Amino acid sequence: MKTIYFVSRRMNKARREHLTKIANKSGFFKVTTDVREASIVISQESNGKEIVEYLTKNKLITDDVTMVTDDVTKQFVDVSWFIACMKEKSLVPMEKHHKLQFKQSIEDGVSPSKKPRRDEKARMAMYACQRTTPLDHYNQQFTDALEILEEHAFYRGDSNAEARALSFRRGSASLKALHHKVTHVEQLANIPYVDSTNSSKIGHCKKVIKEILEEGFCDEVEGVRNSEFYKSMKIFCGIFGVGPSTGRKWFHDLKMRTLEDVRKEDVHLNKDQAVGLKYYEDLNEPLLLEEANHIAKLVRDTCVALRKDTTVTVVGGFRRGKAKGHDLDLIISHPIEGREEGLLGLILDQLKEHFVYTEKKASIKKVTGPSDSKNTMDHFEKCFSIFRFQPQWVGRLCPSGKSWTAKRVDLIVVPKSQFAFAVLGWTGTKHFNREIRRYARSEKKIVLTSHGMYDLDTKESYPAETEEEIFNKLGLKYLPPNKRCC
Ligand code: CTP
Ligand code: MN
Ligand code: MN
Repeated sequence: MKTIYFVSRRMNKARREHLTKIANKSGFFKVTTDVREASIVISQESNGKEIVEYLTKNKLITDDVTMVTDDVTKQFVDVSWFIACMKEKSLVPMEKHHKLQFKQSIEDGVSPSKKPRRDEKARMAMYACQRTTPLDHYNQQFTDALEILEEHAFYRGDSNAEARALSFRRGSASLKALHHKVTHVEQLANIPYVDSTNSSKIGHCKKVIKEILEEGFCDEVEGVRNSEFYKSMKIFCGIFGVGPSTGRKWFHDLKMRTLEDVRKEDVHLNKDQAVGLKYYEDLNEPLLLEEANHIAKLVRDTCVALRKDTTVTVVGGFRRGKAKGHDLDLIISHPIEGREEGLLGLILDQLKEHFVYTEKKASIKKVTGPSDSKNTMDHFEKCFSIFRFQPQWVGRLCPSGKSWTAKRVDLIVVPKSQFAFAVLGWTGTKHFNREIRRYARSEKKIVLTSHGMYDLDTKESYPAETEEEIFNKLGLKYLPPNKRCC
């Protein structure tokens, strides 16, 4: 029986609890919470020096650092070794790559220009909500490649697809937070979800980047990009109302490949998909900032005329500072709780000449209380609409000679008490939401949604009027929207 200790650095509580449970069940490990008792010290995404510093700083060990590292009774290993033992259901030999390095041989052997900046190397936080991710970054060549693999996993939708897609996005999100372009594979050291041996998926990100660095492209990515499946799915999922499961049915069962196939085949389309197909070309032209601002103003003026003091807030990509996007997202609210009710119908009616399509998604009543469901959809009253935009409004001509072009607009109606949470959720990115919610749950035992937040154990809910208050409650440094571009 080996006595092991899990170091909390870069390993959250939920993960430690899970590993402890499976270790204690194994029959050959016993987990201790006192590192001094352990013969094996297990950590994640760290080198030996960092672990000893961490343990000393947190007063978990008081010995002189050299005493600990020279302690022949203690071994310092990466969690990948532990996982390998669990897989094999026995103690597997410790390979070199399992053992933590105490001398930073990579850093020692590398010229200063190749060295990652010290602060970054030491401090890149694990959760994207703990770090700044700007709109423009230095590593687009790599992040584009990883995001193609993410998209491909999403399209495939087979077992594991979600985890696979997520691991590519996490790797990509880490690279977006770097303050320099990656030019050498050594610079990937210690980058969360890129550099680690503890998961094949993480190794996968590193392999892709390494290939691009060495050969200028990655075979796997190019294979996906040029595959019939990916190209067709990209077209199908580019139709408003079509998601990967419909796309897959068309591709595999109906052997469809192109937009023409969708148009000529006698396939069943629901209401969303029928208009999506009709306006496919228009809707796949990006919506520009000045166009978005024009629509936002029109909606705002209409709302205020209908009900004084109504607020219309631009969220989504434009709030994060993007210059174009695939739609405009607007949150409609009112400073008096309850005064937002019934507004959506009035707005759509008032603006009906401007809308091509307004399919209201009814709110599912009434989700103020805690819910433990994994469903991340919110329950606001909303409308995913298609708007008739006239380019002459912003001094342009319609390229096709028509007098208008179709644009997607999302309208979401939100009561005041949930406004800050809805703005946070709808500002995104999707990955930022995933991260801040995962952080809240794992590190703070708080459930965060677009409706509110509450304590996982006591179910006590915590109100907030601003995004700053939400970050504060979660113990996070506030990030403005343009720093959430992960
Ligand atoms: N969102 C959501 N519930 C939905 C749809 C979207 O909470 N049913 C969130 C998404 O997670 C995202 C934000 O609302 O963070 C905006 O969604 P979307 O318009 O799809 O993406 P954008 O980031 O705005 O990208 P784009 O500029 O291409 O529109
Ligand atoms: Mn959007
Ligand atoms: Mn949207």
